[in-house]
Amino acid sequence: VWVVDNIVDKQLIYPQIKEAAQWLKAGKVVAFPTETVYGLGANAKDTKAVEKIFAAKGRPSDNPLIVHIAHLKQLDEIVSDVPRIASTLIERFWPGPLTLILPKKEGVISDKVTAGLSTVAVRMPAHPVALALIEESGLPLAAPSANISGRPSPTTAAHVFTDLNGRIAGIVDGGQTGIGVESTVLDCTSDVPTILRPGGVTKEALEQVIGNVAADSALTDERQTPKSPGMKYTHYAPKSPMAIVEGSPAFLQALVNEQRALGKKVGVMTTEENRSFYDADVVLTCGSRHDLRTVASRLYDTLRKFDETNVDFIYSESFPAEGIGAAIMNRLRKAAGHQVIAEK
Ligand code: TXA
Ligand code: MG
Repeated sequence: VWVVDNIVDKQLIYPQIKEAAQWLKAGKVVAFPTETVYGLGANAKDTKAVEKIFAAKGRPSDNPLIVHIAHLKQLDEIVSDVPRIASTLIERFWPGPLTLILPKKEGVISDKVTAGLSTVAVRMPAHPVALALIEESGLPLAAPSANISGRPSPTTAAHVFTDLNGRIAGIVDGGQTGIGVESTVLDCTSDVPTILRPGGVTKEALEQVIGNVAADSALTDERQTPKSPGMKYTHYAPKSPMAIVEGSPAFLQALVNEQRALGKKVGVMTTEENRSFYDADVVLTCGSRHDLRTVASRLYDTLRKFDETNVDFIYSESFPAEGIGAAIMNRLRKAAGHQVIAEK
């Protein structure tokens, strides 16, 4: 793997971005930073290049990719219609962590990107390196998160390196990403715009701009099939099994004690406020309860840190599922395989 130097203070290193753009034009896959997580990019019009993304990640081919653009002109080339509600959202939230599902124009984006669907997911990332790379390559870039499928998404170039070294052409290192959880995926082809994946733009923020927004019922009922194909897979998971604990620190500590009595090594994922309550083999803090944005930004890095320890089991505190908390809890529930232990 070829790694472009760290880009300090958002000062773009144009020669390196130029080089990465050349690789993309040659049909190779390159990881790059966005404001949410690192993406693994390839020319969205080139089926062979897109197939390399699925191969590198070990991603099921029925799970479609997001197309990343830098200009609204590119949107018109990709989609057959932009409903008025979508235009309103674009004006307010792009560039930014909002992915819109729109009707696909035939014959432009590879069918591998959209997994044979008649819709396409599009977003304009709010990261100077991502925008510069798209612009320099002149291509719409298909890019899922740059992790091995099922692992926590990467928020640093080092995470990408750990997962994909030897499987991709290179990584453009833009330092740590800001938001830390993926974009919100919003279906704009249904009567009421519907959140398929909660993310960086909250439901509350969307509703302030366009009024009523629905949420895919599969997000709250795990027996239903999600409308977003990717949401049906186990995801974001650390190597050790994990459970989410709804209740007091004392209740969580009692669970830890039970496991340790059985000779297990136990990890706890907590917050600054509760850190001192716990006695376990590994205790990691992912931010403050008073600032869930920091929890979001450190969530995946914290899950990955448990992989560097020898814990057999992880208990995580839970968070209010409002605002950015909705995305945090969605990712945590998936990482835990929906194992939730509630205090009676
Ligand atoms: O923040 C992000 O969105 C990151 C960065 C790299 O941009 N990308 C990302 O991509 O998270 P990925 O592939 O890991 O997640 C894309 C999600 C999946 O759940 C996929 O099923 C859904 O978007 N998706 C893509 N196209 C779709 C479509 N046409 N209809 C419904 N869901 C779609
Ligand atoms: Mg992903």
